[in-house]
Amino acid sequence: MKSSIYLATKNANKLREVRHILQGTGLLIKSCPPDIVFPEETGATFEENAFLKAEHLKRITGGEFVAGEDSGLSVEKLNGLPGVFSARFAGGGDAENIEKLLGMLSAYKDTADRKAKFITVIVLLGPLEKMTFTGEVEGFITFSPRGTNGFGYDPVFEIAGAGRTFAELSAEEKNRVSHRSTAFRKLADYLFTL
Ligand code: IMP
Repeated sequence: MKSSIYLATKNANKLREVRHILQGTGLLIKSCPPDIVFPEETGATFEENAFLKAEHLKRITGGEFVAGEDSGLSVEKLNGLPGVFSARFAGGGDAENIEKLLGMLSAYKDTADRKAKFITVIVLLGPLEKMTFTGEVEGFITFSPRGTNGFGYDPVFEIAGAGRTFAELSAEEKNRVSHRSTAFRKLADYLFTL
């Protein structure tokens, strides 16, 4: 049983969310060294980016088990965009990203044409293994933002069958169904088999 790992992120919000997701599992997430500088996310896929981060952190810390994570939004009618460009889609902040996304989908008046999913990919590097864990949650892009919780595209992502956006959920509710929680629970399950 492996009960602690390094996670390759400097994002304090993400670290808090992941620790919250893993509460009660017994798996502890160690923070990165504060002065670490991660390489640019130049990968063409979430997996490549997650690997880049994990590999860098493993080199720096010499950690036995190190995980890198990358996530984003994939919109069907936009051939998977914003995808790996989710964070920097419009070159500004969350509000600009949302505005650009809603603009690109403005011709699609039917919910069925606005299908999207959030995806998280975790790459775990151990002493011998490289493992990948994926989590997805399906939904569609709303016609305008709703809700004030969360971050990123949460106000325009309505979960399939739920009638609410991620931004209309509490942190506990989001963590029960999110792409990130599915992927991290799979990671925890794997580590406890070791
Ligand atoms: P990261 O690489 O996991 O930091 O995520 C990249 C970008 O994807 C974020 O900056 C957000 O724009 C978007 N994203 C990822 N996960 C979520 C989520 O749970 N809610 C809203 N946006 C998200």
